[in-house]
Amino acid sequence: MSTTWQATARARSNMALVKYWGKRDEALVLPHTGSLSMTLDALHTETTVRFTGREGDDTLLLDGVAARAGETARAALLLDLVRAGRAELGAAVVESRNSFPTAGGLASSASGFAALAAAASWAAGDAPSMEALSILARRASGSACRSVLGGFVEWTRGERPDGLDSVAVQRQERGLWDVAMAIAVVDTGRKETSSRDAMRDCVQTSPYYAAWVATTARDLDEARRHLDARDLPALGEVAERSFLKMHAAAMTANPPAIFWKAPTLTLLEEVRLLRARGTPAYATIDAGPHVAVFTSGSDVERISAVLRDVPGVREVRVARPGPGVERL
Ligand code: DP6
Repeated sequence: MSTTWQATARARSNMALVKYWGKRDEALVLPHTGSLSMTLDALHTETTVRFTGREGDDTLLLDGVAARAGETARAALLLDLVRAGRAELGAAVVESRNSFPTAGGLASSASGFAALAAAASWAAGDAPSMEALSILARRASGSACRSVLGGFVEWTRGERPDGLDSVAVQRQERGLWDVAMAIAVVDTGRKETSSRDAMRDCVQTSPYYAAWVATTARDLDEARRHLDARDLPALGEVAERSFLKMHAAAMTANPPAIFWKAPTLTLLEEVRLLRARGTPAYATIDAGPHVAVFTSGSDVERISAVLRDVPGVREVRVARPGPGVERL
């Protein structure tokens, strides 16, 4: 077999300022709304894919440990899309390493599936466009499509039923704006509800889901404008509105998804206090208890020190706008 059936990719995680929450097509992973994120330089995944040329099951090692069945199944779905019509590639051996602890509750699926999409395509000898890579990553996990690109990235909702226009688009390259995020990791162990299940329940049962969809397009328009103007307070306010609405919809689903823990509320209070004292600091929260604070590059270390002192916070990670997926 060819020894060229191997490639390694590095992709960064991302944090949404306007959230993605809910699918209009579960199989193709098509969202009800567009979203906007910052790619995070400090949190990355490196993934090597080798197609063995032999029949068999795909194997997936995450930080040296065999992945759980659900994770392997999602990876296999993506690998099947790459292998389509090319049985000679055979089973894949995938090794993936994160620069941050996966069990720590920081989302690794975005960086993980973006790196997997790229490594698998390159291992198979393909030369996909960034748009094609973003569509491929999206099929495994929605937020992963944004991690293909660097800087600030919009995932456009798209209109087509086949999803070919539901792709990541770079809205601002990194290096143009000195902003950062301080991510306070709350001590909890593994998260209880997956974002996938919680967002499905939310779409189907929350009385507030329609309001989420109805108002997010406007948030996204505003966010894009504030990003262009590099207006931190204005973009920060949109980001806070977006995560609060997302969580309000999740909390009012049946069953309800309450991701916050006691330290989460203390962190939100700290962010309000920082702002009251004149520091630009704006919170955002994904489907978990951790709080990311969007701020200026010059304030981020001072803010991290404040967040680190909050009881129940295990660590604070600092991230600046990072690059898109790279071949190693
Ligand atoms: C709250 O991308 O993990 O982080 O598409 O089902 O894999 P699936 O969901 P996922 O959801 C991320 C939701 C979020 C918001 C966001 O990143 O935009």
